Amino acid sequence: MGKPRALSGRVRVPGDKSISHRALMFAALATGRTNIWGLLEGEDVLNTAKALQAMGCPVRKVGAGWEVLGRGVGGLAEPGLDIDFGNSGTGIRLMMGLIAGHDMRVRLVGDASLSRRPMGRVLKPLMQMGLEVEEKGKDRLPLTLRGTSDLLPVEYATPVPSAQIKSAVLLAGLHAAGTTTVVEAQPTRDHTERMLRHFGAEISVTERNGARAIQVQGDAELEGRRIDVPGDPSSAAFLAAAALIVPGSEIVIEGTLVNPTRTGFYVTLAEMGADVAFHNPREAGGEPVADIVVRHSRLRGVRVPPERAPSMIDEYPVLACLAAYAEGETRMEGLAELKVKESDRLAATAAGLAANGVPAKVEGDALVVGGGKSVRGGGMVSTHLDHRIAMAFLTLGLGADRPVSVDDADTIATSFPEFRGLMERLGATYSLPETVG
Ligand code: S3P
Repeated sequence: MGKPRALSGRVRVPGDKSISHRALMFAALATGRTNIWGLLEGEDVLNTAKALQAMGCPVRKVGAGWEVLGRGVGGLAEPGLDIDFGNSGTGIRLMMGLIAGHDMRVRLVGDASLSRRPMGRVLKPLMQMGLEVEEKGKDRLPLTLRGTSDLLPVEYATPVPSAQIKSAVLLAGLHAAGTTTVVEAQPTRDHTERMLRHFGAEISVTERNGARAIQVQGDAELEGRRIDVPGDPSSAAFLAAAALIVPGSEIVIEGTLVNPTRTGFYVTLAEMGADVAFHNPREAGGEPVADIVVRHSRLRGVRVPPERAPSMIDEYPVLACLAAYAEGETRMEGLAELKVKESDRLAATAAGLAANGVPAKVEGDALVVGGGKSVRGGGMVSTHLDHRIAMAFLTLGLGADRPVSVDDADTIATSFPEFRGLMERLGATYSLPETVG
């Protein structure tokens, strides 16, 4: 390939996916109207909107924003049909917490990727609270759940760091009589805690023997609110990596969420020697945001410690691709959870790098990438219905000697439909099918 053109300009990435799912669901549990600005209109979030509509909650687009007319805690209705969450683990797992607290029977389905992912991790605590699963002992979709309006509160210590497990239990706890407690040994993204407080729930967070204990009061009453969804730092990561790969680049990603439970990728970039700064820090809707300024930099390989994983769990594929351009070896540790994402991201990332001539190996739960040589490229990457694998490898291709191809770019629409358009606005020359962006 010829020398790539430097990337430049100011852009805003679409709304944060985690916050978008939560905004719709919490609004549905509130009384009165919630207006949401900056909602991510990716397939995952639209599936959550459709699920709420099927459960009798009016959710609609009004002008540039979204309006939800809440049904109150416990006020959703049994849907007539199966609910299809497509590719979305967050949508389905959080919704399980909601279903648990309603007297309803719901059959849940998803695409091939979601049907391979474990659901027992969320069902286990919810069953302790009173949820019934018709397919006893089954861990994968399709599943039929029976909720109850007599949910019991629990105290639950999450066995793996997962904001989805934590959030499902806290959402169910809103419906239970009494105090529900979730204890997490490693802090995970705290959007549920922040947003529940914003909607008026009684929620407290305390330290308990080095762990975080989150308590929510049941029989809760939430009130409709205005929500401003900041830009998604996990989507911004692809743009930041692109600017770091292409010489001469300088970009600004405006209004991006910089919640410390989500910024591990940016901390790692700084350790690699990247010129990355958070400008104009401010608050939007109870979350910290900033304009992220990224300038092309010479990078060095680093060791990324396991305790950082929860704060950058979705960014490892793109970090691994970026590591191919860093001097020396990058070793990312504690990645067991990557194996149960939209694909086995540990295996998919290592295979994609190898297909493009980048030395990469999986050592237990660690991924080791050798950088510093030119990236040969020319490989076809199997994306396994995983949007982040597709975007990570399209980013790898920006600096490779030969083009990098992905077998399926359509999945990008699940989290970042504007990927192609924004990359092109910055000056990247991606060649993607017309269906994307
Ligand atoms: C999410 C939590 C994470 C993350 C996912 C979004 C959330 O999953 O990977 O993209 O919104 O709570 P886990 O809870 O499985 O770690």
